[in-house]
Amino acid sequence: TASASPHLPEFAGKRAIVTGAAAGIGRAIAEALAAQGVRVAVADLNLAAATQTAAEIGRGAVAIEVDVRKRASVESAFQAALAALGGIEILVANAGVSTMQRALDLTDEEWDFNFDVNTRGVFLTNQIVGRHFVAQGHGVIVNTASLAAKVGAGLLAHYSASKFAVLGWTQAFAKELAAKGIRVNAVCPGFVKTSMQSREVIWEAELRGITPEQVINEYVSQTPLGRLETPEDVAGVVVFLCSDAARFMTGQGINVTGGVYM
Ligand code: NAI
Repeated sequence: TASASPHLPEFAGKRAIVTGAAAGIGRAIAEALAAQGVRVAVADLNLAAATQTAAEIGRGAVAIEVDVRKRASVESAFQAALAALGGIEILVANAGVSTMQRALDLTDEEWDFNFDVNTRGVFLTNQIVGRHFVAQGHGVIVNTASLAAKVGAGLLAHYSASKFAVLGWTQAFAKELAAKGIRVNAVCPGFVKTSMQSREVIWEAELRGITPEQVINEYVSQTPLGRLETPEDVAGVVVFLCSDAARFMTGQGINVTGGVYM
């Protein structure tokens, strides 16, 4: 598991904000960073869940309420994290949502919901924390994109578009901030065992007229590494991207899909 990773000395005394960290991939990222000695702000829309997660992670983790769709909320969450932790050197912009719908039936509301959280949320958190990183002359950012940011995903046209945009932002922002000593990368998970996956499996089964088990079996059978992806599979790569081992990498979207996308 990620918590068994070797201790990387560059993380000693560092502080991180992880959005969408109450559950799923974000929680695993927060746990993996905490295991490296990082104090983490578990930032989430669901404050009750974030509070519970921060308590379970321990190691000085704090819970912060944030709605990444709203500038004022991101601004005050950032100030709260800064005050609680005394500084911020790592941002993982991970909060995201998905809904499933045939592109021909998609509503404006569904389009906006996916773009507001997945794309505007990355813009707002990256910009607000990025200003702080530029002022202090260092900092590292990882955004959670998706396999659906590399290949258009069926029944997820709106989600795919919102995640392709995350990679575009990541590359351009990485270029602008590189000279300031700040790296910006993205991680592209495949199909990860979280509550998002549980919802998608039910929607996809309904839309395609098959069973949820068939949806999962089909995906695993198309996965060269032959099993479902776990949040910890993603967290290990995020820790790597935040570490000095990745010091010459910026603007990348790293696929973590068990070989589904090569
Ligand atoms: P999840 O649904 O299990 O957890 C998402 C967390 O984000 C929840 O705690 C939720 O409260 C929080 N959140 C939702 N809206 C928010 C908002 N407006 N402001 C702040 N927090 C908010 O989802 P999961 O699977 O852990 O996804 C995490 C990220 O990984 C997302 O960006 C998702 O798009 C991405 N991803 C997930 C994949 C999967 O198969 N599960 C595959 C590829 C990417």
